[in-house]
Amino acid sequence: MFLRGILKVKSLEEKHQIRMDKYRRRYEERRELYRLLKENASDILCSANFQETRNYIQHGSIPVHRHCIDVANQSIIISKRLGIPCSQRELIRGALLHDYFLYDWHDKNRENYQRLHGFCHPGIALRNAEKEYQLSLREKDIIKKHMWPLTVMPPMCREAWIVTTADKYCSLLETLRLRKGAGKTRIGLAR
Ligand SMILES: [Fe+2]
Ligand SMILES: [Fe+2]
Repeated sequence: MFLRGILKVKSLEEKHQIRMDKYRRRYEERRELYRLLKENASDILCSANFQETRNYIQHGSIPVHRHCIDVANQSIIISKRLGIPCSQRELIRGALLHDYFLYDWHDKNRENYQRLHGFCHPGIALRNAEKEYQLSLREKDIIKKHMWPLTVMPPMCREAWIVTTADKYCSLLETLRLRKGAGKTRIGLAR
């Protein structure tokens, strides 16, 4: 009985340790993702227009700002987990700007309200991004094709395939309201 008590205490300690290790790993992963975003796109993250996207809702109650950061994080995770070699800088910058349409697409009273937002916004996002940033061909491809297969032409580079996948994954979680906590990702960097 006494021995069983000791063993039980030990197993509770082990469980606690496992949980703490999990939290620590998750914290490290988020820190690394944040570092990569800052290193590659601090100009975008700090810009007034990108900050303005906090005021526009993407899906459910998730702002466009948060959606774009989640898609960038998820894109990094997908490329690392699947070992897909790609340009990390272009991947991150394209992902952050993929929904740079700069309006509330739910607002039907808005001037130039687009009934077909899904079809139109990649082109609008690209035009807005081009006004402010010197975009590479890959970054343009990411923004223009991220709604594939709605936009008929398929992505032409790995980075754009990764972002279109990450975008669908994040959008699904947002629509199903599964996403909780800022910057939280469902798939970790480490297995
Ligand atoms: Fe989009
Ligand atoms: Fe998106």
